[in-house]
Amino acid sequence: MRFRIYRYRPEEDSAPVLQDYVLTPEVLDGAVMLLDALMLLKAQDETLGFRRSCREGVCGSDAMNINGRNGLACITPLKDLREPITLRPLPGMPVIRDLVVDLSGFYRQYRAVRPWLIDEGPEPEIERPQSPAERDRLDGLYECILCACCTTSCPSFWWNPERFLGPAALLQAYRFVTDSRDKALGVRLDDLEDPYRLYRCHSIMNCTDVCPKGLDPARAISGIRALLARRRL
Ligand code: SF4
Ligand code: F3S
Repeated sequence: MRFRIYRYRPEEDSAPVLQDYVLTPEVLDGAVMLLDALMLLKAQDETLGFRRSCREGVCGSDAMNINGRNGLACITPLKDLREPITLRPLPGMPVIRDLVVDLSGFYRQYRAVRPWLIDEGPEPEIERPQSPAERDRLDGLYECILCACCTTSCPSFWWNPERFLGPAALLQAYRFVTDSRDKALGVRLDDLEDPYRLYRCHSIMNCTDVCPKGLDPARAISGIRALLARRRL
């Protein structure tokens, strides 16, 4: 099986290159997912850099661009990939080394939406109750693993990474304006009503297309727009 992998160490290399690798069927024996193959390549070339942790599609750390599409190596079956399997880092992010990118900007936008419950009232003596229907409204919003596949596939984010929140952060924003226990709806909507933070989304839909957890950030962004429109009326 043939691979072409982006190699770059900014502190040493003048430019990135695509390096070719081959894994023979004997070596590949038993490898099912792309991450399995990457681990075999790493055994042959320990200088190859990539992140990985849970290998179950839960931690999101092995997000990368696989044959032109963002995804998680650990849940991408090798049999579904055409050769040479071309691996690049997530687009639009500064490269630290090979397939490892600096996600500081991504996390900064995530923190900007204050992804926690806000309730300035007195601390309740019991838990904050929620009806089953209120809880159901969070389905499809809370499962995000912050892999950054969506945000780094969004051209609007590539162009405005400092000012556009990006689909992952906006999905979280919608998760908290939807939560019946949160008491900061007005403030949250004030923060979002901005030509860049929210309205730089041009419905390109790459975010929803690539999400490895099957979430729909584009729909969440429409939900925020609908809340703002309703508030204006
Ligand atoms: Fe990853 Fe999906 Fe969350 Fe985006 S919405 S960060 S693609 S899990
Ligand atoms: Fe980007 Fe998704 Fe909007 S790809 S432009 S955030 S619909």
